[in-house]
Amino acid sequence: SNVPMPTNEPVKEYRPGSPERNAVIQAIADFRAQETDIPMYIGGQEVRTNRTIRVAPPHDHKHTLGYFHEGDAEHVHQAIEAALTAKEAWANLSWEQRSSIFLKAAELIAGPYRARINAATMLGQSKNAYQAEIDSACELIDFLRFNVHYAEGIYRQQPNSSAGVWNRLEYRPLEGFVFALTPFNFTAIAGNLPTSAALMGNTVVWKPAYTQVLSAKVIMEVLEEAGLPAGVINLIYVDGPVAGEIIFSHPDFAGIHFTGSTAVFQQIWKTIGENISKYKSYPRIVGETGGKDFVLVHESAHVDEVATGLVRGAFEYQGQKCSAASRAYIPSSLWPAVEAKIKSFLGEMKMGGTEDFGNFINAVIDERSFRKITAYIEEAKQNAQVSVVAGGTYDDSIGYFIEPTVLRVDDPNYRTMCEEIFGPVLSIYVYEPADFDEIVKLVDRTSPYALTGSIFAKDKYVVERVAQALQNAAGNFYINDKPTGAVVGQQPFGGARASGTNDKAGSALNLFRWVSARTIKETY
Ligand code: NAD
Ligand code: ALA
Repeated sequence: SNVPMPTNEPVKEYRPGSPERNAVIQAIADFRAQETDIPMYIGGQEVRTNRTIRVAPPHDHKHTLGYFHEGDAEHVHQAIEAALTAKEAWANLSWEQRSSIFLKAAELIAGPYRARINAATMLGQSKNAYQAEIDSACELIDFLRFNVHYAEGIYRQQPNSSAGVWNRLEYRPLEGFVFALTPFNFTAIAGNLPTSAALMGNTVVWKPAYTQVLSAKVIMEVLEEAGLPAGVINLIYVDGPVAGEIIFSHPDFAGIHFTGSTAVFQQIWKTIGENISKYKSYPRIVGETGGKDFVLVHESAHVDEVATGLVRGAFEYQGQKCSAASRAYIPSSLWPAVEAKIKSFLGEMKMGGTEDFGNFINAVIDERSFRKITAYIEEAKQNAQVSVVAGGTYDDSIGYFIEPTVLRVDDPNYRTMCEEIFGPVLSIYVYEPADFDEIVKLVDRTSPYALTGSIFAKDKYVVERVAQALQNAAGNFYINDKPTGAVVGQQPFGGARASGTNDKAGSALNLFRWVSARTIKETY
């Protein structure tokens, strides 16, 4: 192999006085000092419109960070045309030539753009320095580097030949353009969805969430500086349904690379189904969607490990990870000790803006999320069968702040145990140890999702039994660890059931979806 196996980008610690902390502080000050103008990027051109939308830090919503230029149907058509125009030359480049652009992008993020992309994520998406570092720096760098390594593995896979016959597989990109539709909660995912399809020779229309445009702009700056040719990735800010209506009825629509909620993905799938006869080829449909991720605790578990896993798994990035621990099952024998530990950890946690590096908890993404999450909390407070173990308060006067909230439910099918809340709310059901086998079945059937899940147990027979019984309940299954924080190249990430097509982001499985192979048999 020519491309060495990459190593994961080391996580910087941002200690007080360190150069990396000073650089991020400066980049935050730069963003705060002037309003950033955020254009779309179509066919290599910055595109501005007369409809601008204000961007604010979720933890300080009265401050204006800048404005992005919202496009309309016309810009969607332009982006598709730009992608189709760029297609042939891009597809005909050797994969090595394409790869070197993405390797260069990784170097730029690891070096000169690191502080800027982290600051954009800290301000625009309200991630603290550590959460920004593991996302917009390390994970995005890892996606870019590991994808090149996995792509090489794909291009080198060739069939057997025999005397007089030479067989080849040509891994061509899909015919048409790919649509990347990305969520707000990971800058790395927003960067990976368009670039992984582009690496395999596709050209892309990319629509990010409106709450991620600041870091999306930095990704585009990096790709341009790395030498990405015009039209390969076209970044548009257009209302999702408006973009969808045009894209999903276009004959050259070749595939969607989606990450977001289950409801939106199911709607998209239906629309594609209804339009199926319009397309030149059956589109590839790749979607990573919602989760209701479980933590199952056995009485042989270690209390400190459980409490740490629950607090980190449920409340890092305010619970806004698809992988977040959101329902836990704890034996009554361990509950008093786990409860005390959780309360003690939460008591030490500070909440506030990301500019203060001591704040573990920051704001949720926007007013809509704030209203949705707090409605769950209010309903739980009114329910006699639910007790608030910790948290339960909120305040949106300065930013969208919600205290980490732990609910103990009497009914294991109460809605906060089944529905994705996507916020800092952890629901706990305390069970009698003798009922453990029933609880395992309950974990499997309580929610339609199957993204991540954890078992905490020191008893290896129990671990094995649960791993078997819950084999379809989680695409990423963790033993004695929190269900969040998958690392590219180490824990390929994705779920099944209502959680997605399980094509494992940052792996060869995903990249295979972006090629359409031609078999060639040549006799001589
Ligand atoms: P979302 O579904 O609201 O939005 C995702 C993208 O789709 C955005 O760009 C949005 O503007 C667009 N969109 C929304 N409605 C649309 C429509 N009708 N037509 C076309 N486009 C539309 O998701 P979000 O709030 O940005 O992200 C949170 C969700 O993403 C959660 O459900 C979370 O579990 C999921 N998620 C999953 C993974 C995973 O790997 N499984 C990772 C991150 C996030
Ligand atoms: N890859 C992210 C995690 O595992 C979603 O938390």
